[in-house]
Amino acid sequence: MKFFVDSADIEAISDLAATGMVDGVTTNPSLVAKSGRDFKELIGEICQAVKGPVSAEVTATQADAMLAEAAELAAIAENVCIKVPLTWDGLRATRALADMGRQVNVTLCFSANQALLAAKAGAAFISPFVGRLDDTGADGMGLIADIRQIYDNYPDLETEILVASVRSPEHIRQSALIGADVATLPPDVLRSLINHPLTDKGLAAFLADWQKTGQSIT
Ligand code: E4P
Repeated sequence: MKFFVDSADIEAISDLAATGMVDGVTTNPSLVAKSGRDFKELIGEICQAVKGPVSAEVTATQADAMLAEAAELAAIAENVCIKVPLTWDGLRATRALADMGRQVNVTLCFSANQALLAAKAGAAFISPFVGRLDDTGADGMGLIADIRQIYDNYPDLETEILVASVRSPEHIRQSALIGADVATLPPDVLRSLINHPLTDKGLAAFLADWQKTGQSIT
C-alpha cells in the first residue's frame, strides 16, 4: 500500500519524506491557500522533495480551460499528477490527459458510480473522500470496499484507489484490509501510525534494565 502526504507544507513533507515512507503527495486549493505560498513554485519544491506523483489541482471548470491549466502544471516537473474534479468537464479533461500519457487524479468522489466513470475516463487515481462522507453520517469505508469490488470485477480498469479525506489511523487500517492501493494522509495522521503505549512502556523498561548492567555496546 502506498502512502501519500496530504499537505502543502513543504517542511512537513520533507520531514516525512526522510522516513522513507512517502510515495507521493496530494495538494488541493484549500491546502495551497493555507500555505500562503505561490502555487507553481510550491509544486516545484514538492516535486523535488518527493519523487512519486505530486497532485496539483486545476481550478478551471470547463474542460478546455482545465487542459490549459494542466499544461502549465505539467511543465513544472515530470512527476506532477493533474488533479481534476469529478464533473463531466473533469472527465473529458481526464480522457484527453490520459491519452497524452499524463497521470490524472480525479478528486471529490463520493459514490461508486462516480468512481466507475473516472476509471472509464482513464484516471490513474480516484480519490474517494472518506472523512467527509463519515461527517454526513454515511459510511466512508463502505464506499472504498464497494469501489474495490467494482474495480476487481473489471480487470481492464487500471485506476488506483487513493483514499482521501483521511482523519485517523483507523481509516488506514481499514483501507489496508480492504486493499486500497494508496492512502493520502495528513502529516499528523501519518506520524501517529507508529504510536502504541506498550511500545513506549516496553522500550522504557528495556532501557532501564540495560542501564543496570553498566554495559555499553559501542
Ligand atoms: C486529497 O486529495 C483531498 O483533497 C483531501 O484528502 C481532502 O481532505 P479533507 O476532507 O480533510 O479536506
